Amino acid sequence: MGLISTVFIVSAQKTPIYKDKKAPIESRIKDLISRMTLDEKILQLNQFTVGYNTNVNNEGGVIKEIPIGIGSLIYFGTDPVYRNEIQRNAIEKSRLGIPILFGFDVIHGFRAVYPIALAQACSWNPDLVKSASEMAARETKLSGIDWTFSPMIDVVRDPRWGRVAESYGEDSYTNAIFGVAAVNGYQGKSLSDRFSIAACLKHFVGYGESEGGRDYHATDVSAQSLWETYLPPFEACVNAGAATVMSGFNDISGVPATANHYTLTEVLKRRWKHDGFVVSDWSAIRQLMFQGVAGSRKDTGFKAFMAGVEMDMADSIYLENLKILVNEKKVPVKNIDDAVSRVLRVKFRLGLFDNPYTPIVSENERYLSTESRQVTEQLAEESMVLLKNSNNTLPISSSVKQIALIGPMAADKKNLLGSWSYNGREDDVESIIEGIEKEFGKTATISYAKGCDFDGNDESGFSDAIEAAKKSDIILLCLGEKKDWSGENASRSSIALPTIQEKMAVELKKTGKPIVLVLSNGRPLELVRLEPIADAILEIWQPGIAGGSPLAGILSGRINPSGKLSMTFPLTTGQIPTYYNSRPKARPYPTNGIYQDIPTNPLYWMGYGLSYTSYKYSAMTISSSKIKRNEKLIAEVEVENTGKIAGLETVNWYISDPVCTISRPIKELKYFEKKEIVAGGKVKYRFEIEPMRDLSYTNSEGKRFLEAGEYFVMVNDQKVKFEIIE
Ligand code: GLC
Repeated sequence: MGLISTVFIVSAQKTPIYKDKKAPIESRIKDLISRMTLDEKILQLNQFTVGYNTNVNNEGGVIKEIPIGIGSLIYFGTDPVYRNEIQRNAIEKSRLGIPILFGFDVIHGFRAVYPIALAQACSWNPDLVKSASEMAARETKLSGIDWTFSPMIDVVRDPRWGRVAESYGEDSYTNAIFGVAAVNGYQGKSLSDRFSIAACLKHFVGYGESEGGRDYHATDVSAQSLWETYLPPFEACVNAGAATVMSGFNDISGVPATANHYTLTEVLKRRWKHDGFVVSDWSAIRQLMFQGVAGSRKDTGFKAFMAGVEMDMADSIYLENLKILVNEKKVPVKNIDDAVSRVLRVKFRLGLFDNPYTPIVSENERYLSTESRQVTEQLAEESMVLLKNSNNTLPISSSVKQIALIGPMAADKKNLLGSWSYNGREDDVESIIEGIEKEFGKTATISYAKGCDFDGNDESGFSDAIEAAKKSDIILLCLGEKKDWSGENASRSSIALPTIQEKMAVELKKTGKPIVLVLSNGRPLELVRLEPIADAILEIWQPGIAGGSPLAGILSGRINPSGKLSMTFPLTTGQIPTYYNSRPKARPYPTNGIYQDIPTNPLYWMGYGLSYTSYKYSAMTISSSKIKRNEKLIAEVEVENTGKIAGLETVNWYISDPVCTISRPIKELKYFEKKEIVAGGKVKYRFEIEPMRDLSYTNSEGKRFLEAGEYFVMVNDQKVKFEIIE
């Protein structure tokens, strides 16, 4: 009898597809979804917090028991070991071992704190902003965080709103360019790269229009403005691959952003094909009740989820209600599956399933690398803006032997960090006085006097300040805002500095000494009374940890300032809103539509900034005066550095369309370039106009149109006409 061979069928424990590193991500998602229970799916759509909640505005951030299988945690810690313990617990104790996504607000740096975003945009150097974001991503990732709630790309035209500090200013194109730079810096070439973290575009959408600059208030944004101004930065960043989006607190003309199916699904998902996920802002789902569109927690959950918010930040509303809503047949399971797929897609793309644990390196290796310090310093240098320099007060001449360093900001450290700098440390900050002593300590005597506080009415310190001033050859008057006077929930009815600071400036003016006004603030300021007092004005914003030396370098002339404003400075608060690209008024006559009581022009327009050298622009040339809609137009200008020192010059290119189906802004920024020009050198700047990209307009449905007719291209103070022919 033949050998009866027994065939052993060894059913090797096949690795589930979702655990197979080689399987395509979409297959892994599909496989995992098929294995998940409804409870497990809903857990993925929730975000809790862990660690001490440092954002005072986020009430309710109590540390709850972390449910096994939770989708995400806001990690208020910096210790990767603790984070890995939580992750290990989630993976080993849950049935399917789905990793947690750890997020945090890394807005302008983690431990190496960079200048605030509003300042970064004044550098007009997107490559540098990308580098800063890359450095921040590395420190963040090594701290156990895989996801930042940044960049904030809300266009802002009301500087009373504190969150202006977090944006890239008043222009849509600027917010788009710098937002993309930040996304690319955070996310790297691939989300799964070693130091890549997921970006989060916020606050979707129109939050910068908060009425009266009052945070959390409604925004009245027309469909036309939505498409023309507020959506473009988000579209640019979605096209750059931003993994996630955060829905805003604001109500968009009656429909809150967090319950707005049009923006969250029609636009973001269907038109822009965004395949990541949307997380609500903190409590924004629950807040739908306060905004009057939902009568219960369950109703808020239903409205937000069905509008297109996939993850609930800190509310537990989805955890409590989605299963009920599914059982009531109000929420289809397919919607749950789509939402969970989006969350899992980001986790797979980040490589969290395959590398769920943060590599442990020492704090020294984690933070404040030489490279990150260099980037903080360069970004601070390039974001500072010289606003006034009468009689060439600056740079400070070598004949100056006595410097009076005065003001509440002169020796301050923590306020230079700006808002949203939770992991920044005062000890890491180089103060103004430290920078000045390093730069001038060998050649001049520096007398410091605080003079007064940031606010209040105590003038008792004036006498010391005046004493120091009288002995000096020049006064460096360091004024400004505290870090918590801007940022979230930091609206101010006036953008002027507190009276005490202005009063001290008036007293110091009486000494007859030249005054260099150094400003550190998180918003454009009302300088109508201070500007005439100052011989020179240098806006240093909130420069982060490396402000002292860049400021001192500009004051000494070691650095030629190259910053230009990313946002207009109104002359007074009463002029708000005033911004460069307003629509034309009905009566263009100089005596029409102006204020009776004050000048109508702002103090400084967006794009304004002085240099220590001088530039001469050649006449702009264009490649043709008539082009077809599918042809390019090349505009060029040659800029000569007619001064004695090299400089970095940013050239902004604008277009205007004086006759169009809709009334278009009087000018629109469409391109910019920053280049170095050596003393006596000439450099060409070129703007390649692609009509559909650069000249078209959008209507209120987001449809783009390009009309034949006359257009202008503008650079510096030149305006050249050309025509699009049929
Ligand atoms: C805050 C902010 C948002 C931040 C989030 C998490 O309330 O509005 O910008 O990312 O909550 O802290």
